[in-house]
Amino acid sequence: MQNSDADRLTDAVIEAFGDTPDPRLRQFTTGLVRHLHAYVKDVKPTFDEWMRAIQFLTRVGQACVGARQEFILLSDVLGVSMLVDTVNHDLPDGATETTVLGPVYVDNPPIMPLGADIADGLEGEPLYVEGVVRAAGGAPVAGAEIDVWQADEAGLYDIQKPSVGEGESELRARFFADPNGRFWFRSILPKFYSIPVDGPVGELVRATKRGTIRPAHVHFMISAPGFERLITHVFVKGDPHLDDDAVFAVKPSLIGEFVPKPAGAAAPDGREMKAPWRLLSYDFGLKPAAAKAA
Ligand code: BEZ
Ligand code: FE
Repeated sequence: MQNSDADRLTDAVIEAFGDTPDPRLRQFTTGLVRHLHAYVKDVKPTFDEWMRAIQFLTRVGQACVGARQEFILLSDVLGVSMLVDTVNHDLPDGATETTVLGPVYVDNPPIMPLGADIADGLEGEPLYVEGVVRAAGGAPVAGAEIDVWQADEAGLYDIQKPSVGEGESELRARFFADPNGRFWFRSILPKFYSIPVDGPVGELVRATKRGTIRPAHVHFMISAPGFERLITHVFVKGDPHLDDDAVFAVKPSLIGEFVPKPAGAAAPDGREMKAPWRLLSYDFGLKPAAAKAA
């Protein structure tokens, strides 16, 4: 097939989608065809290579079992998750920056009272987290819903640990901010970790000699009526992997001070801490939701 044949084929497929009534769906489909065809014209895969690519995507789908989301992981390592974040980056002053959701979020985490310890006896350096949720640059948001999740001291999330059974959880919780938008809880200091590499995305990163490490962070998802849902992390300042995150998700404004404190110092809630511990004080600003069209 000559180039002109290839271009005629591309035009014919785009035309086949031309009557799509929903203009946004038409844009998605015709844009996909245009760019996918350009990719094939550029890379020129053999039949065998294209079949291997299809088999790879099939395995990615098959690996999405239960809480495991291999397609999100693929989107993350290809930088697409952060590109979607970037093209949607339209934040008012005072709004906290967003970053990737990642593949290990589990909906409906256990609801815990403010001040609870989400580590519940797990080994690690104690951490006290506190902050205020505000409207971007404005008033506190009473009752904001705050989901938090993080890896353990060995860099593993609960869903990766055989010791955590179905329906159980570790290092995840949902808190509700107090009437002044304040929240506080205890945990352990997170450490850097490898993205999951025991699936097809792992095959890809190994074959391409990519780095697999994510710098230490705590995940936050914050929702409140009248605001856009905020999905972000707070990264640990000083982590050695802030500059080579496997999923390109670090933004300078999201690097928090996890201040070291000596044993015996009282935590902000007045309780004495017996071992050396860290204090993270980090406030969040929510973007007002777009007004609905009439
Ligand atoms: C995470 O932060 O949980 C994560 C994000 C992207 C890929 C793997 C893990
Ligand atoms: Fe994470």
